Amino acid sequence: MKAITYAGKEQLLLEELSVPQITTDEALVKVKYGGICGTDMMIYAGVHPRAKTSLVMGHEFSGEITKISSGTSFKIGDKVAINPIRYCNECEPCRLGNYHICENLKYIGIDLQGGFAEYAKIPIENLHILSDKVKEDEAALIEPLAVAIHTVRRSQFKVGDNVTILGAGPIGILIGIIAKISGAAEVIISDVSKYRLEVAETYGLITVNSMEMDLIEKVKMTTKGVGSDVVFEVAGNQITANQMISAIKTQGEIMVVSVYKKAPIIDLANMHFRELSLSTTRCFSPKDFEAAIKFMEEGRIDISRLISHRLPIESFKEGFELVKESKNSLKLLFEL
Ligand SMILES: NC(=O)c1ccc[n+]([C@@H]2O[C@H](COP(=O)([O-])OP(=O)(O)OC[C@H]3O[C@@H](n4cnc5c(N)ncnc54)[C@H](O)[C@@H]3O)[C@@H](O)[C@H]2O)c1
Ligand SMILES: [Zn+2]
Ligand SMILES: [Zn+2]
Repeated sequence: MKAITYAGKEQLLLEELSVPQITTDEALVKVKYGGICGTDMMIYAGVHPRAKTSLVMGHEFSGEITKISSGTSFKIGDKVAINPIRYCNECEPCRLGNYHICENLKYIGIDLQGGFAEYAKIPIENLHILSDKVKEDEAALIEPLAVAIHTVRRSQFKVGDNVTILGAGPIGILIGIIAKISGAAEVIISDVSKYRLEVAETYGLITVNSMEMDLIEKVKMTTKGVGSDVVFEVAGNQITANQMISAIKTQGEIMVVSVYKKAPIIDLANMHFRELSLSTTRCFSPKDFEAAIKFMEEGRIDISRLISHRLPIESFKEGFELVKESKNSLKLLFEL
């Protein structure tokens, strides 16, 4: 089978590998679509702390079961979403039910062989059946949607709040969509990419191109000078690390979603005088993943406009370069 493997900093290979052998606890999944995410870009850039060479990349993917032992609730031909989180069930966070922050967490596509391949072997407990209401390509976005649901649920966001999102990448826009359907008053989203902001606007978000407009002025104008109740930082650089403190109201909450490639300087003195809260978030719980599937099945969210490209796996180099440049792409899917 064909698979995209990590071979070192900015080196990916399209390799011919054997189709994985499965145990009775696993299923063989024919992958249909796999999405590139910010974390894949960290691996590609050679700055991910855990990814090792020979890794089959890809943690956002969907597919169909082609091999499975009898006696499970799944069968050959079932359309499935894959929750990529493996946890130990023994550490303190696991004992408290916080599997997503397991001290020994392993992610399919980061620590374990992933889904940028024609086939993937997946533990049965990581599979979720999908009805025909979810399109195969959109099913690859269940994982990032679960991230957005978890982020909003973990924050102090309440119905009627004003929200600012820094960064209109797939995660930023998905957070905007979830905040909007959860009853946000106004959702402002900033970016430096005209294309990404145009897509964000179709979801009813107030867009700010921070190259052309003063974001803080826009936040103040929209919130009668008060500032946002919650700011989601989803761009991950020093400029947005400064803006998150200026955009927030007194006693507001900053939710850092980004994984910073370089540690930013945070103005704690400024935060202290206004009693600001600073929170972080990591992946999603099983409940968030199930909610993401439910929202898709019930058609409550139309995420189709987030898919900017569908490329064959042979165009892997072009795909990664398009996402690296980021200006004219959003979610790029490999078709397998
Ligand atoms: N917490 C988690 O569990 C989790 C999960 C997934 C992704 N992430 C992280 O979330 C972040 C966003 O993910 P993504 O896939 O949407 O990434 P992305 O790179 O596609 O999006 C980031 C966006 O920020 C924009 N940006 C850059 N400078 C800006 C500025 N000065 N002002 C406004 N916007 C600016 C970029 O143009 C880009 O559109 C990444 O850091 C990623 O690693 C975190
Ligand atoms: Zn991801
Ligand atoms: Zn654990």
